[in-house]
Amino acid sequence: MVVSSPWLSSPVDASVSYDHKAIIVNGQRRILISGSIHYPRSTPEMWPDLIQKAKDGGLDVIQTYVFWNGHEPSPGQYYFGGNYDLVRFIKLVKQAGLYVHLRIGPYVCAEWNFGGFPVWLKYVPGINFRTDNEPFKAAMAKFTEKIVAMMKSEGLFESQGGPIILSQIENEYGPMENFGGAGAKNYVNWAAQMAVGLNTSVPWVMCKQDDAPDPVINACNGFYCDYFSPNKPYKPTMWTEAWSGWFSAFGAPVPHRPVEDLAFAVARFIQKGGSFVNYYMYHGGTNFGRTAGGPFIATTYDYDAPIDEYGLLRQPKWGHLRDLHKAIKSCEPALVSGDPTVTDVGKYQKAYVYRSKSGACAAFLSNFNPRSSAIVTFNGMEYQIPAWSVSILPDCKTAVFNTAKVGAPTSQINMIRVGGFSWESFGEDTHSLLRDKSFSKDGLVEQISMTRDRTDYLWYTTDVNIDSNEQFLKNGRDPLLTVTSAGHSMHVFVNGERAGNFYGRFGSPKVRFTGNVKLRAGSNKISILSVAVGLPNIGPHFDTWNAGVLGPVTLEGLNEGKRNLSSQKWIYQIGLRGESLSIYTLSGSSSVKWGGASTRQPLTWYKAFFNAPAGNEPLALDMSSMGKGQIWINGQSIGRHWPAYKANGVCDLCDYKGTYRKMKCQTDCGEPSQKWYHVPRDWLNPTGNLLVVFEEWGGDPTGISLVKRVAL
Ligand code: GAL
Repeated sequence: MVVSSPWLSSPVDASVSYDHKAIIVNGQRRILISGSIHYPRSTPEMWPDLIQKAKDGGLDVIQTYVFWNGHEPSPGQYYFGGNYDLVRFIKLVKQAGLYVHLRIGPYVCAEWNFGGFPVWLKYVPGINFRTDNEPFKAAMAKFTEKIVAMMKSEGLFESQGGPIILSQIENEYGPMENFGGAGAKNYVNWAAQMAVGLNTSVPWVMCKQDDAPDPVINACNGFYCDYFSPNKPYKPTMWTEAWSGWFSAFGAPVPHRPVEDLAFAVARFIQKGGSFVNYYMYHGGTNFGRTAGGPFIATTYDYDAPIDEYGLLRQPKWGHLRDLHKAIKSCEPALVSGDPTVTDVGKYQKAYVYRSKSGACAAFLSNFNPRSSAIVTFNGMEYQIPAWSVSILPDCKTAVFNTAKVGAPTSQINMIRVGGFSWESFGEDTHSLLRDKSFSKDGLVEQISMTRDRTDYLWYTTDVNIDSNEQFLKNGRDPLLTVTSAGHSMHVFVNGERAGNFYGRFGSPKVRFTGNVKLRAGSNKISILSVAVGLPNIGPHFDTWNAGVLGPVTLEGLNEGKRNLSSQKWIYQIGLRGESLSIYTLSGSSSVKWGGASTRQPLTWYKAFFNAPAGNEPLALDMSSMGKGQIWINGQSIGRHWPAYKANGVCDLCDYKGTYRKMKCQTDCGEPSQKWYHVPRDWLNPTGNLLVVFEEWGGDPTGISLVKRVAL
């Protein structure tokens, strides 16, 4: 078969190409072990250590998405500083001698706010995301070109001597194609052509895209990918996301994937001819600031990954995978030589044997029985293979590794308290409006169209006039207020008294308040603070999902019956007073008068100063005593806190051995989904660090402590 692809192995000019067996780097087929580390989810100071630990863990490649909304916060204004310094990150990977898989997207999903799209993009006239739509394609092409040009000018593609050996365009568009209407297929073809036309000299991948057009390689994402084969016989079998664990959502149990199962899945994939595996995530990190997607994605993006959120090795996960990689690498010459011969050595047991012309022989013996171990005979010798495991024999004789036998030590992680804080407080004003941030309008407005996601907060306030002849005033039966919101959480106040706070949950963001409220004759004020908790990052047309109080808002039990407040005049305020004064920064914090720590009031700002503790162990804040809000250190947000949201409901990642089922919460149920919040050491000065917490619910800041994460 003759195929005109720049990346098939025959053309000698491309430094990276591919064939049926593998990605070919400088003429050599390679078995590549890769791991995702998303640069904005850690700090530049952490990068060298994370990359080194990835290398020591046996990785060849670091995979990252490119985060468009971090790089282009407003149209045409680019940012590549701080933890968005993509070039610095890639150069560090090169320095460590590893390759890069650059997933430009620019849609990335990733539990990242709005899936990586800048929110301003939604307001480009005539735009329709991820389909055959000119304004969208123009914006997507412009950003993709910008990133590719930047990589080229820095000499970062492999053909230029750089580390980038692979790219990705789009992300898991396959499952969306059905919802994309007539334009979906055209869009896929356009995206592939646009990317290929950028002449990067490295192959492009589309993950979960069965119809990825040539020469783009379609790749698998999942907990298991051994069933996967690419859409053409001349493409290699690639696994772009081997899920090492799962993400955390506020209100959900903390996910965990046993390393035995992960190692089994990876070994099976390689056994069956796979030649590229990427751990998603290898280091998950932190959703700093307001970068978490969702809604309700937690601030931690630990992911139960081999390197934990704080940059420490998660053992035995990291060590067991390192041992697996070593075993796989010692089979590389045989693995890349051709296809295996496969023999049944039992009902659930198989032997895959790879041989090279030069005589190398490697065998993988698998036991797919989830319950019982087996003794199999292979080449005249007996091997005991535990349930649900693979043994690797790099010389076809000696089993040097079995995925179920963990030799790596288990680390003990302790969070050790190093100190508390001495707080001052400032009450967020709930009575007067900020002139430059408020406006009035008839009817209810969609929240993000107003805030443009520059803040989580939008106040909705309206007046309710009660006639003194109202019957309920006489008979003392309070009317029933109903507030319906598209999400994600809200605080309802009636005449300054809080009626309560309400919130949706992951997968179901809508919120409704129904309650009897005290009203008086004359004017009454109903104020609702609507709070966004991360914009959606996945799902059909996720970019069109609404947030905020869209109604109906009604009052029942009046003489007139039901009064609909939805279309009357509302006064809005975008953001909080504390935000508009930047009171979380050193200069801004002096613009208000702080008082003593009057604790446990809702909508309160707290500030304290502290010195960096001695040592270099990673640091965190234990926020267990708090409700919900946001935390800043020296003016930078470390993310949203929400320890009051306890793990309940179903676990997204429970049970294993072939299926990851949703089941009832099994561990840590009733505990906060996230109680510790990473404080990067490098954000601290030796002394006088400013810590500011905005607390919505009325938690107790005297219970907050600084802790060190110590591996024993
Ligand atoms: C995949 C997606 C990733 C991430 C992952 C779950 O479907 O491609 O970006 O969202 O799921 O963590």
